[in-house]
Amino acid sequence: MEKIYVSGGNRLTGELRISGSKNGTLAIMAGALLARGPTVLQNVPRIGDIYTMVEMLRQLGAKTRTNNDNSVEIDATEIETNEAPYELVKKMRASFSVTGSLLARLGYAKVPMPGGCDIGARPVDFHVKGLQALGARVSIEHGYVEAEADRLRGGQTYLDFPSAGATQHLMTAACLAEGTTRIDNAALEPEVVDLANFLTAMGAKIRGAGTRTIKIEGVDELRGVNYTVIPDRMEVGTFGIAAAATGGDITMRGAISGHSTAVFQKLQEAGIRINSDGDWVRVRADRRPTAVDIKTMPHPGFPTDMQQPFAAMLSIADGTSVVTENVYERRFKYIAELQRMGADIIQSGRTAIIKGVPKLTGAEVTATDLRAGAALIIAGLVAEGRTEISGVDHIDRGYEAIVEKLASLGASIVRTDSDAQPAVKLA
Ligand code: EPZ
Repeated sequence: MEKIYVSGGNRLTGELRISGSKNGTLAIMAGALLARGPTVLQNVPRIGDIYTMVEMLRQLGAKTRTNNDNSVEIDATEIETNEAPYELVKKMRASFSVTGSLLARLGYAKVPMPGGCDIGARPVDFHVKGLQALGARVSIEHGYVEAEADRLRGGQTYLDFPSAGATQHLMTAACLAEGTTRIDNAALEPEVVDLANFLTAMGAKIRGAGTRTIKIEGVDELRGVNYTVIPDRMEVGTFGIAAAATGGDITMRGAISGHSTAVFQKLQEAGIRINSDGDWVRVRADRRPTAVDIKTMPHPGFPTDMQQPFAAMLSIADGTSVVTENVYERRFKYIAELQRMGADIIQSGRTAIIKGVPKLTGAEVTATDLRAGAALIIAGLVAEGRTEISGVDHIDRGYEAIVEKLASLGASIVRTDSDAQPAVKLA
């Protein structure tokens, strides 16, 4: 079983290139199923979730190819399978969003309900309600969502919560519906806008992406396109927080600073210096961060995915911070791991009170989800001594070459099979 070993105390300095957006690419890949013809996606991160989605599309009958220049080719002209395999949906919730595309293309879809995960129940009721608003007959039995419609027809749906996934899923399905669809209380995430841009490039008629009301005029057919996905704002946030925590000075190339305003705002409140221009962002910390309060909210609020990495930084900040998690009901499991490293955190319900301590100490810890893994790496970067992180598969789902990227910035970090001690001697 692989582990990541980190020896703390090094400042992160230098430059790195940001990979493409995991969450943006996954939604776009589901959208590619709508097109009869080849689509080529550029700037795709080489991470576990992408490989899972490629396998999903392949099993549905699409022709796929993953190239080593970070491009993925998808040709969904011949899809004929309208059932998604349980093993893949169970592995990655985002694969559920093929339901709408199968329904739009084949008039029928049978897809396993995605389970919850370590951050919450994560139901799909908004997705189901939205598909019904598009005229689909939906039943949920034996753990499967079965949906059918001779042809989807335009409808109106309101999202009780501005769900990113539901917005993306329903916007995609509506592209081939007959008539106009309106989604109210839509999510504003940059990955929603990027998906709309991709679908529009394929010939879809979409207005209002990036606002609370999105209108989609259904068309009869969409064509494959060549498209470059946006950079991953969660990678930008993660490395920015890591630089801040280690007193570092890094420049991230290929980043869109406007996608990370909330995280940068909070880093600046913590005394961190942020400069950006066009496609680079520089993060500098010349002293220990100061405590700040964060409340996670849908975009453009502070992103829930950055709550865990940010809390790792706050655990060694000067002062006491209050972290409120408003999006997921169970996104604090990593706190027990940070406490094993000496963090002083009291958690109650959706709130964690973090009292900054002078130092953390390295320990054996386990990542329970992707962003918890990032938090533990950040804690390991600042801890005294060596931290051994298990659950590396979670981290590999969403971060391309994170060990190599951190090592190139001066971190003392290696990944190795847990039976063999790290090949590289950790300082
Ligand atoms: C996306 O998940 C991201 N995943 C998540 O990132 C991210 O945390 C989340 O958006 C919020 O920003 C992908 O894009 C693949 P939601 P998604 O639907 O779409 C509730 C990561 O680490 N809800 O916006 O599934 C839900 O329970 C992952 O990269 C319903 O109640 O999130 C949650 O409380 C983790 N019913 C809230 O809405 C529904 O039908 C936000 O969920 C759908 C959602």
